[in-house]
Amino acid sequence: MTTNDPKVIVALDFPAVEPALALLDRIDPGQCRVKIGKEMFTRTGPAFVERVATKGFDIFLDLKYHDIPNTVAAACAAAADLGVWMINVHAAGGRKMMTAAAERLAGLGERPKLVAVTILTSLAKEDLTEIGYAGTPADNVLRLAALAEDSGLDGVVCSPLEVEPLRAQRSDEFLLVTPGVRPAGSSADDQKRIMTPGEAVRRGASYLVVGRPITAANEPAESLSSINAEIAAVPG
Ligand code: C5P
Repeated sequence: MTTNDPKVIVALDFPAVEPALALLDRIDPGQCRVKIGKEMFTRTGPAFVERVATKGFDIFLDLKYHDIPNTVAAACAAAADLGVWMINVHAAGGRKMMTAAAERLAGLGERPKLVAVTILTSLAKEDLTEIGYAGTPADNVLRLAALAEDSGLDGVVCSPLEVEPLRAQRSDEFLLVTPGVRPAGSSADDQKRIMTPGEAVRRGASYLVVGRPITAANEPAESLSSINAEIAAVPG
């Protein structure tokens, strides 16, 4: 495991192993963690996860489990066996599901951090109404984050705009893992509500998920170190 707790988690969103490994050869596992999501994992499987771990990177395995409690707890234990640093579940799976996952991991020596997805940022109020959720996305994010903490989870994944209200309501230790981050002057790509790395950390983000500003940069290591410098300059 990385010891100096880098805050940047690089999203390894690639369609194949080779470009992902090429990127990993250009960045330092002491300066960042990496996130492996559904596309890469479905194409490349646990063998790729183990290969990335062998290179010294802490891994956020972003598979967003959502199933009956016993199945999710077993999946979390399987992910822990891979030696990953962080995993996630959907808070909408409910208290029993989240508690079962947290309790299964608590029995392990070194366990991954367990965080929840509250409301997907792709869902607007009318989408929530259609699936039977009352209130705004923001209301639901705060409610489900409270349920996640109460169920023993370590934190949530949230948009940069949700960091400040969540930090105000949740404990200091509760992790806020935040995508939608863009250094000043870089392309927003398809992200709609973005924030700079420094501002997200200043508002209370614990970790930042950053993809294309690093993975598509001509000099990924330089892009990463300038983001780390911006974070380091935030008064702590
Ligand atoms: O390239 P970019 O920095 O936009 O990548 C952000 C990463 O965070 C992607 O892996 C994306 O799927 C993920 N993510 C996100 N917004 C969310 C949840 C996850 O961008 N609400």
